[in-house]
Amino acid sequence: MTKESLAINGGTPVRENRIGYGRQWIEEDDIEAVCRVLRSDSLTCGPNVTALEKALCDYTGAKYGVAVSNGTAALHCACIAAGLKPGDELITTPITFAASANCALYCGAKVVFADIDPENYNIDPKSIEAKITEKTRAVVAVDFTGQPVDTEAIREICDKHNLIFIEDAAHSIGSSRNGKMVGSIADITTFSFHPVKTITGGEGGAVMTNTQSSTKELFLPMPMASHVIPLSWRRSTMAPGIMSRFRSDITTGLRTSSLSSSFHSSGRLSASRPAGWKL
Ligand SMILES: Cc1ncc(COP(=O)(O)O)c(C=O)c1O
Repeated sequence: MTKESLAINGGTPVRENRIGYGRQWIEEDDIEAVCRVLRSDSLTCGPNVTALEKALCDYTGAKYGVAVSNGTAALHCACIAAGLKPGDELITTPITFAASANCALYCGAKVVFADIDPENYNIDPKSIEAKITEKTRAVVAVDFTGQPVDTEAIREICDKHNLIFIEDAAHSIGSSRNGKMVGSIADITTFSFHPVKTITGGEGGAVMTNTQSSTKELFLPMPMASHVIPLSWRRSTMAPGIMSRFRSDITTGLRTSSLSSSFHSSGRLSASRPAGWKL
């Protein structure tokens, strides 16, 4: 192909339509799951939310999971739980969606970008270590395109420097590393259920953790983020703050359906799929 023949230079386009950003994969059982919720008593903060949180824990092996409005809110909650505050620094990768870095800014902290590994485009642990200062409090490591980061190396660095390891797993629910499911490895893991992600509810996110201490911390900011965690009206009103509640039973019904037996048995890894995808 010569430069002149490119469509941008007046040549014939190789295709008529633009390639779409992505298209969700919704099956009849997903539609039925949503209809069941619509016919039920609770459209928000009801049993489907708890069911989704349990399904996520069962699937990933994480001890605790909290559903939130989207992956951005999940990262924000993770940073609050990590105790990030003005003057702190958070190290992340520049090859990601803006939320992986913005979550630090929401807390008044500074974003420091580490370099990536050219082999897999994930954050390079050696570069993380080179960027640590006495102000560094947390690392947000992104599992780019679903490939888990080098969790062993990042764990070692975070332990050595007393940092909170946050895994932005917006792309990688269903992935594993050395036999451990993503969601059960880092101090805090965040998921997104946007329609281009591996499973979707239209919108949505979740925060997963194994450690009691971070869960306790996590639950404290949660009422600010979503008003009713953990399902107590007293706690829901205890602090003013950011309102990003989207704990809809309708969309969690869809997400739980995507995580259901068909997810496991058919090897279906996605309620999202590229536009035009045919089975
Ligand atoms: C790596 C990464 N982190 C976080 C997010 C934010 O997720 P959400 O769109 O659900 O807020 C995205 C979404 O594109 C993402 O790709």
